[in-house]
This record gives sequence, structure tokens and C-alpha cells, in this order.
Amino acid sequence: MRFAFRCVRCEADFSGAEVRYTCDCGGTLDVVHDGRPDIDPERLDARRMSLDPIDRSGVWRFRELVLPVDRAHMVARNEGNTSLYDAPTLAAHVGLDALQLKHEGENPTGPFKDRGMTVAVTMACALGKRRVACASTGNTSASMASYAAIAGLDAYVFVPAGKVAFGKLSQAVAYGARTIEIEGDFDRALELVREVCDTQDVYLVNSVNPFRIEGQKAIGFEILQDLGWTVPDWIVLPGGNLGNNTAIAKGMVELLQWGLIDRLPRVAVVQAAGASPLVHAWETGRDLVPVEADTVASAIRIGAPVSWRKSLRGIEATRGVAIAVDDQAIVDAKAKVDASGIGAEPGSCATVAGIAALVQRGVIAPDDHVVGVLTGHVLKDPGLVVDYHLGKLSGLHSTHANPPVTAEPTLDGVLRAMDLD
Ligand code: F0G
Repeated sequence: MRFAFRCVRCEADFSGAEVRYTCDCGGTLDVVHDGRPDIDPERLDARRMSLDPIDRSGVWRFRELVLPVDRAHMVARNEGNTSLYDAPTLAAHVGLDALQLKHEGENPTGPFKDRGMTVAVTMACALGKRRVACASTGNTSASMASYAAIAGLDAYVFVPAGKVAFGKLSQAVAYGARTIEIEGDFDRALELVREVCDTQDVYLVNSVNPFRIEGQKAIGFEILQDLGWTVPDWIVLPGGNLGNNTAIAKGMVELLQWGLIDRLPRVAVVQAAGASPLVHAWETGRDLVPVEADTVASAIRIGAPVSWRKSLRGIEATRGVAIAVDDQAIVDAKAKVDASGIGAEPGSCATVAGIAALVQRGVIAPDDHVVGVLTGHVLKDPGLVVDYHLGKLSGLHSTHANPPVTAEPTLDGVLRAMDLD
């Protein structure tokens, strides 16, 4: 093995060949790479033009930086290669001179999760596993179900009953996963799936699995590649179970260590106010205290995030910040992101609400180079879109409502509906 595991808490080392998700002390594990990978930006850029599907994958293109694994095991479906949009109207809205948005909703199953899932399911195959499982607020399960189907593995999804957006639930079912609705929240579903995977021959692919983190580092790598290997001042993204910000920060710190970049971007993590235990831990300097999560952004409705220690480490290493935004700010930011023509699911739009709040507080300067990550596709949660525009979101105001209008089936009727009468 050209990598090992190291505990984030007590620094115990384990062989990379072991099937292991956590340390004996309960700490989460990092993948530690053995030496500087033999790769440079020119070769990475050349791969982007290659016809080889592994070179073209927005994860496996960076394979030396992600995970050395036998190509025969790779389960890839052209993940990554997502757009980095210039968003001038949103920039003006949040008080920035310019704003770029990396749209991870353009991954094959519609969230950033595909980048971690291609690596986790590849490792399931490399380890000879036949069954994979995860708990999910929806996107991880959609992604796992697809990659497992491609690899011919049995997939088991644990979701909080009645709490998953329809776009996501329908994907898990459609891709053929055994979908188990737990009468509890995401945090309980995660506890249960971890118990199952500890006692049965079922491979856990939640982001507590360190290989998921290695794949998700590629979001940051691809942002740098999109920018011609220049480093933005900020990368801003939503935080739920806290795997993604952990991954982006880890990738950046490694690139700096390996001499591929000469400075770090600052990583800002945005949580929904009703599910913001990381923000509390960051502000108080204390260990994370789990909360009962409550937010309209179901993707990030998580009260006991598994990767909090790694997440805080990444924020510290990059001189980053953690900030909470309320549901009103999230749904209004979503209406703006959608109306700009880009569109993303509610949890993703915490990014834009967070950027606005950080500019307002003077943490981000108007001329800083900011890249926000939109984590999921606009069609993931159509129910919330319709409810917002019809003014039906309980306790929230539909500030930018654009409701459909009904017309009589006549020329006069439609012209009236078009305000052209
Ligand atoms: N954005 C979206 C759209 C998500 O689905 C998630 C997490 C996050 C942000 C937060 O990322 O957990 O790495 O901090 N969704 C998980 C799921 C929990 O089950 O799909 P994180």
C-alpha cells in the first residue's frame, strides 16, 4: 500500500490494507499518502483532453493526488468536469466585485457526492466487498445507489422517513437500492448503519469512510485547474456531516506540502442556523456538542456531524471561518441563484447566503476572489421550489416569489397572463 490511515485524534497509524473506518479511540481516520506524488499541472491538463475515460474523470484524472489504486477496480462515470460559472448578478447581490460558482450539481447523479462515491465504491470492489450501505439525507444515497448498480454490488440505503426530498428518494429507489426509511433523523440512521457495517460484511460508504474524503478533494483540485492553477482567496461551501469542507481543506494543504501551489485559499463553511453545531464549536473553541437539527435545507439537516474534528482542523489550517445563516436567508438566496439561471438545491444555496453574510461582516472583502461551491442540482428538491413560489413555506416569507399564473384558454386570456393586454 502506498498509503496508511492515521487517527485524527490520537495519531495512531494503521495499514491502508485494513477495512477500518475509525480508530480504537473512536477518532476518525485520514488517508496519509506515502511521499510526494509524481504528477504536475501540465500532465493533469493534458489528461483533460484525453479520450481515456479514466483520464477524463474529474476525480481519477487526479489519481496520484487522490488514491493509488489499480485501474481495473475503478468504477467511474465521468464524475466532475463541472462548470465554474461567472455570476455577475449574484456578485452584485452579495456585495462582491465578482463571484464564481463551481456547480457540483452537474455531477452524474446531481451532487458533489459522486466524487467521493467513485472512490469509495472502487475501494469496495478492490476489497472484494459485495454489499455497500450508507445513511443519507438523500444525495449520498442517490450517488451510492448508482455507483453500486454499475459495479454490480447490493446497495442498502438508510434514510430518515419523510425527510428526504423526492428527487433524491426517487433516485435511490430507481437505481435499485434497498431503501430503508428509518423512523428517526439522519443522525440515528447513521448510528444504525455504522452498527450494521461493524457487525456484518457490509461496506460503509458514508464520509466517515476516509476514501470518500480523498475523492472529494478533487473538487478543490478541479477549481484550481479551472483557474489555470491560480489560488482563489476563498472557497465557500455548505456544511452538514462536514466531509466536504474537510476534503477540500485536506487537498489544499497537501498541494501546498507537495509544492503544487504556493498559498492556501481560505475555506468558509456555512451551516443552517438550526443545524450549526460546528459554528458553535468554532466560535467557542470547544468540542462539538450535537444538536437536534431543524432546517428547511434537508440536505444539511444534521445535528451530530461525524467529521467535526477534521473540519475544524481544515478551517484552522486555511485560516477559514464557520458561519450560520437562517432559513429565510437560505430560501431567498436560492431564489436568487435559481433566477440567475444557474439554479441549485436549497442546501447548496447556503453558500451564497453565507458569502453575503461574510461580506456584510467585513470578513470577505468586496475585491476578494471568491469561489462558492453549489453542491446539488436544482431538480433535487422541486417541492421546496413550488412551495416557496406559491408562498406556502410555513414560517418563511417568499421574498422573490414567481408563482405560475392561470389563464383562460383564449388569446385575450394568455395576453393578460403575459401582462400584454
Ligand atoms: N450540500 C448538499 C446538497 C448535500 O447533500 C450535503 C450532504 C451537503 C451539502 C453537506 O456536505 O455532509 O460533506 O458537510 N449530504 C449528505 C447526504 C449528508 O446524505 O447526502 P457534508
